[in-house]
Amino acid sequence: MKYTAPRGTRDILPADSWKWQHVERVFRDTAERFGYKEIRFPVFEETELFARGIGDSTDIVRKEMYTFPDRKGRSLTLRPEGTASVVRSFIEHNMGRGAQVTKLRYFCPMFRYERPQAGRYRQFWQWGLEALGSLSPAIDAEIILFSVRFFEGLGIKGTEARINSAGCPSCTPAYNDLLKKELASKLERFCDDCRERYERNPRRMFDCKNENCQTLLSDAPSILDALCDECRDHFAHVEKHLRAVSVPYVIDSGLARGLDYYTKLGAQSALCGGGRYDELTSELGGKPTPACGVSAGVERLISALEEEGAFQDAAPGPDIYLVAGSDGAAGSNVTLAARLRETFSVEMDYQGRSFNKQMQEAGRMNARFVLVNQGEGEPLKLREVATGWEASPGEEELEAAIRDRERESR
Ligand code: HAM
Repeated sequence: MKYTAPRGTRDILPADSWKWQHVERVFRDTAERFGYKEIRFPVFEETELFARGIGDSTDIVRKEMYTFPDRKGRSLTLRPEGTASVVRSFIEHNMGRGAQVTKLRYFCPMFRYERPQAGRYRQFWQWGLEALGSLSPAIDAEIILFSVRFFEGLGIKGTEARINSAGCPSCTPAYNDLLKKELASKLERFCDDCRERYERNPRRMFDCKNENCQTLLSDAPSILDALCDECRDHFAHVEKHLRAVSVPYVIDSGLARGLDYYTKLGAQSALCGGGRYDELTSELGGKPTPACGVSAGVERLISALEEEGAFQDAAPGPDIYLVAGSDGAAGSNVTLAARLRETFSVEMDYQGRSFNKQMQEAGRMNARFVLVNQGEGEPLKLREVATGWEASPGEEELEAAIRDRERESR
């Protein structure tokens, strides 16, 4: 019996996990600057939360959830996304009390039973932001600007936002009727799924991945022509804010999102997706609270960064690789390493290998410095691997020598 990671999941090994740490660090720093605080919510929730929150007619709820009964027969589901959990937590902890807006972020794995393919997994990671409590278009624009700044922080330039409106309960019923009327004559040419979507929620047809369906939809009426005054005004203000902060965007009236909770503004690009969900909090039993958010898959982001050559440097190695230059030094390296590790990251040999093998290992690990301990009474030898720069500081002078060197080469 040979065990492997379950289909659609994967291990992130040290050769790659440093890239993940980098992305998470940039996400955290950018989110802090925009005022989004971290929330950590459970990996599973009551199934009903997702069925109500994401919507019974969505692909996620119908086909993609990992749902199981617990030992008492309660139906639980591994979270397929974060927004429903965030809203549940917001209501449960009465987070809106006294707050103007509640701004939250998360960076964690989600689970969807999808057919695995490039960039699509059954356990995947999402970064996300949610802002609850404000109807202001400034929040929509802020979330889009955050995404642009986050990608810039990672070295991805030239991003463009695609935006559309999802309308609100006062303008969508008339639009749904119009859409159904216009599509009725070609309905039999759509795929089976779209014919079903036509009955349940015709706007969901825009989300179909089938090219033929997309062609059939190309001259469908645009929701932007059917918006109520409030939604039209909201959309115009988001555009105004985006222009004011110089975020390039295009309006894409064919843009639809695969979740039921969206209202007003929806935005998406290959790298992230999100929008407003002004009705979700009341739908889940809370006080009506307008809200807006974004999230995206981290795997896709990391592949995009790899394609852009953002990780050309090798994985960062230890500050120091400690080499035993004599048999006696191997023993004293244990205590020397312990002292050095109060300040530096330090690697060393544990197998009594030869001097040359240890030097090779220092290179393989991409250590910044090699420190040769030649034994009792002998001076230490410090060498910068990349340049060959050398010094022989006493142990007390080591830290200062390394710091000076770092300053000089900056
Ligand atoms: P979503 O469009 O379902 O929206 O997912 C957001 C992103 O998660 C996708 O654009 C994609 O990057 C990533 N993703 C989804 N499924 C997979 C998968 N199987 N493998 C890898 N990546 C995947 C949401 O989840 C909403 N919660 C977004 C949101 C936040 N709306 C408001 N706030």
